[in-house]
Amino acid sequence: MLLEGKTAVITGAGRGIGRAIALAFAREGCDVFLAARTVPELEETAALVRALGRRAEWCRCDVAEPEDVRQMAAAALAAFPAVDILVNNAGWAVFRPFLELTPEEWQRTLDVNLTSVFTAVQAFLPHMRARRAGRIINISSVTGIKGLHLQSAYTAAKHGVNGLTKALALELKADNIAIHAICPGGVDTKMARDNMPDRDKTDWMTPEDIAHTALYVATQSPRAVTDIIHVRRFDSEPL
Ligand SMILES: NC(=O)c1ccc[n+]([C@@H]2O[C@H](COP(=O)([O-])OP(=O)(O)OC[C@H]3O[C@@H](n4cnc5c(N)ncnc54)[C@H](OP(=O)(O)O)[C@@H]3O)[C@@H](O)[C@H]2O)c1
Repeated sequence: MLLEGKTAVITGAGRGIGRAIALAFAREGCDVFLAARTVPELEETAALVRALGRRAEWCRCDVAEPEDVRQMAAAALAAFPAVDILVNNAGWAVFRPFLELTPEEWQRTLDVNLTSVFTAVQAFLPHMRARRAGRIINISSVTGIKGLHLQSAYTAAKHGVNGLTKALALELKADNIAIHAICPGGVDTKMARDNMPDRDKTDWMTPEDIAHTALYVATQSPRAVTDIIHVRRFDSEPL
């Protein structure tokens, strides 16, 4: 198994891409610590992981609240002897014409998608640095690379995630810590259905497609690193 003996912390692990990553990692022997706000969804993901024979612990955490993130990190590091992989997956979006965005929606988009990554990396970095080992996987978006219509706040936040990933790659290499950004196009999840209820999603990617990519970067050779990885629907346009 590719992740035998490893532990991963996964935010937004109650459903969608985060849950699929938790299960894909567990199938490869990884124990997981799950974080999100909806407790029944966390309990369900944890039960699915345990059914695969791996350990799963969870805590309720709003990643937009720095104190929640710090408490989540403390809980994860108390529950497991080490954290090898941090997956910053929790995200949220509102798709709307720019002039109709409220300052609160703008701020919430930045807090949930971007500042959460800053806070979580700060919370786990001392532990990874002390071990001179660790891997950080940020679930960004194709909007981290190009702008999409009616997605200005989300595009700004995900561009920030990609910028932070690239800058930290330079800073963290001295500590032997790898950092990646995965940038999916359309994935059929609650977030996509909430924002684009009328789009036909028959040919959209599944959460498992993105989990497969996360497993790829999580198991890269120590001599190689993929900074930014764009995963698009097969019938969409290349960048
Ligand atoms: N679906 C797509 O087409 C697509 C494309 C590119 C990138 N992405 C990215 O993929 C990631 C996962 O999204 P998804 O598509 O899987 O959506 P999803 O099914 O709605 O799942 C989002 C997860 O994030 C959690 N979350 C949301 N706000 C949170 C908060 N403030 N604090 C803690 N957890 C929070 C949710 O749980 P709670 O609501 O219970 O907190 C849920 O577990 C996001 O970063 C998203 O931007 C998605």
